Amino acid sequence: MSLSLAILVSGRGSNMKAILDARAQGLLKADIAVVLSNNPDAPALETAREHDIKTIGVSNKGLTREQHEDQVLAALAKYKIDFIVLAGYMRILTPKFLHAYRHTDGYFKIINIHPSLLPAFPGANGYDDAFAYGVRLSGITVHLVDEQVDHGPILAQESFPRLEEDTLETFKARGLAVEHKLYPAVLQKIAIDGVKLLAKTEANVAVGAASSTSRI
Ligand code: GRF
Repeated sequence: MSLSLAILVSGRGSNMKAILDARAQGLLKADIAVVLSNNPDAPALETAREHDIKTIGVSNKGLTREQHEDQVLAALAKYKIDFIVLAGYMRILTPKFLHAYRHTDGYFKIINIHPSLLPAFPGANGYDDAFAYGVRLSGITVHLVDEQVDHGPILAQESFPRLEEDTLETFKARGLAVEHKLYPAVLQKIAIDGVKLLAKTEANVAVGAASSTSRI
């Protein structure tokens, strides 16, 4: 099955680029319907255009969260989208947005990548917080989005060590390399197998039975 994805970005877009590169290399069978940013000047949009991907800038300047989201939803409504892929999108989504992309099985068809082993270190500074805490092992989480920030059914996690000699920069660089492999791989797994979750927890109870698999 070929997935149709919309990628939402706010900044440099290295994860978006990894997804586009994986697609170009045949490692990800997905169509990228559009790349959308709340920052019309995001470097990510330029990168997407270089890959011949349609881009949309919907600035949130001067708008309430609801006004901005309504514009984003209207822009995305023109496309057939199986999953929204958040790749450094620095906006918190409201329940209205989540419910616009609700699967019949109950989960939201919105995927996020976070630079820590959730549920540890949620928030905007996952790398910095894990590093400052002094973790010996950190990692990357790809998860379905729910109504809490950096929370929701976990699709995949991959760990990486913090080495004694690490600076925050080398720690981040090691993590980013993991992100760039993991995100496209998880999307390709969904393209082949659909959404598979390991547990029925409070966080993903809406999804249904434990070990459930749901086709897109
Ligand atoms: C990544 O570290 C991602 O895990 C987090 O935001 C950062 C985005 O970086 N959610 P980029 O824009 O993909 O380079």
